[in-house]
Parts: sequence; C-alpha cells; structure tokens
Amino acid sequence: MAARVAVEPSGVEFDVADGETVFEAARRCGVRWPTVCGGVGSCRTCFMVVVCGSQFCSAIDDWEAEGLADLATVAVARSGTAGPAAAGPVRLACQTRIRGPVTVRKPGVR
Ligand code: FES
Repeated sequence: MAARVAVEPSGVEFDVADGETVFEAARRCGVRWPTVCGGVGSCRTCFMVVVCGSQFCSAIDDWEAEGLADLATVAVARSGTAGPAAAGPVRLACQTRIRGPVTVRKPGVR
C-alpha cells in the first residue's frame, strides 16, 4: 500500500509505493529531487529533514548512516553548527522507504 509524502516548502506531494524509496517515487512521479549520484547513496545531496512521521520511515542501515555522518561532519566544518540535523531527523531520500504519511523539508524539490 502506498504512503503519501508531503514536501515543504514547495507543497509537492506524491505517493511512495511499497519497497520504493522517496527518491525513486519522486522520479517516477516526475518530481525533481536534488541529486548528483542519481540515487545510489553516495552524494548525500538528496538529504531531507523529516518534519513529521519519522516513525513511518525505514530504519537507517549502515550505508545511510555513513552518509549521514559525513553530512554532519561537513555541516560542522562549514558552519560550526549541526547543520540540517538541528531542524529534525535527517535522512537520505534515496535510502528512505516509508509506510505511512510523512512530511519532509527539502528545498529544491519541484
Ligand atoms: S541521491 Fe545521492 S545520496 Fe541520495
């Protein structure tokens, strides 16, 4: 059964099918989601902040955890802050599957 994702601040919404990542669903629906690697989990460009519904997100595997750790390191090095992590749970859209309604924040999605 599909689950709905809503993206702030654009207001874009689309359904994510079972077994599909948020990034894959965006592409299938013709939604532009920032990426460099095309969804293989190596660029970290697809990161998003989960505003609500994090309980419906898949568990973070080792590959995603490595990417999130790199993101945090870069944010601290560049700004001296926790970066996007300060606003809520950060996930990689190309690694995250959902099983219920989720709202995320990701500038550049359209
Ligand atoms: S699209 Fe590159 S890490 Fe997710």
